[in-house]
Amino acid sequence: MKRIIVAIDGYSSCGKSTLAKALAKSLHYAYLDSGAMYRAVTLYFLDNHLDYNDPGVVDKALNNIEIHFERIEGQNHAFLNGVDIEHAIREMRVNEHVSPVSAISAVRRAMVRQQQLMGKRRGIVADGRDIGTVVFPDAELKIFLIADPDVRTSRRHLELAAKGIDADWHEVQQNLLERDRIDSSRADSPLRKADDAIVIDNTLLSEVQQLEQSLKLAKERIPTA
Ligand code: DC
Repeated sequence: MKRIIVAIDGYSSCGKSTLAKALAKSLHYAYLDSGAMYRAVTLYFLDNHLDYNDPGVVDKALNNIEIHFERIEGQNHAFLNGVDIEHAIREMRVNEHVSPVSAISAVRRAMVRQQQLMGKRRGIVADGRDIGTVVFPDAELKIFLIADPDVRTSRRHLELAAKGIDADWHEVQQNLLERDRIDSSRADSPLRKADDAIVIDNTLLSEVQQLEQSLKLAKERIPTA
C-alpha cells in the first residue's frame, strides 16, 4: 500500500506529539518529533556555554552536532552526539531558550534538511511548527491542532508534575504564551496554518476521539491501488 506523510502543526502543548505518536503507531509509520531536534540544538548551546547570538559560533556548533532518534522500550528517544537526551531536552531551561534558538535561520536550514531526508520514503507522521508549510509542503494530510490556552497550561503543568517538576502554573502559562508569540512572529518559517491544513480543536476531545478523527482523515488519503 502507498504510504503518505502526515504533518501536524500547532502551538506549544496542544497535544501534537500525543496525537502524532498514536497516529504513527496505528498506521505503522515512523514518528518524527521535530521539536526535539530544536531542543537538542538548544541543549548543546546551553551545556557548552555558547552564545547563540554569534553566527560564527552557531555555524561551528552545527558542524559538531549529530542528532538521531532511537526506540527504547517502545518510546522515541532523541540522541545528541551519541548521548540519550530525551529527558534533558524537556527541562525548563531548554523551554526558556528553544524559541530564540529555533528562530535562527542557519539552525532551521540544518534541521529541515535532516527532516526532509527522514521523510524521503514517506510513511511518516511529523509534528512541529512548519511541517505543513516548509518541511513537507506536499504532505497528503496536514492537521493544525488548536486548544484553549488554559487547558494547554494545565496539561503541561500536569506533565511536569508527573516528572516530579513542581512548576508554578502561571509561569508555565507565561512560557507557553511567550513561545507561541516568538514562534508565530519570527521572520523565518513562522508558525502558521498551511492553507490546505485541517483544523482540529481538541479542547474538549479525548485522546481517543482526536485519534479517531485523524485516522479517518489519513485513511481517506492513503491510495489503495
Ligand atoms: O514541539 P516542542 O514544544 O517540543 O518545540 C520546541 C520549540 O521548537 C518550539 O517552541 C519552537 C521550535 N520548533 C520549531 O521552530 N519548528 C518545529 N518544526 C518544531 C519546533
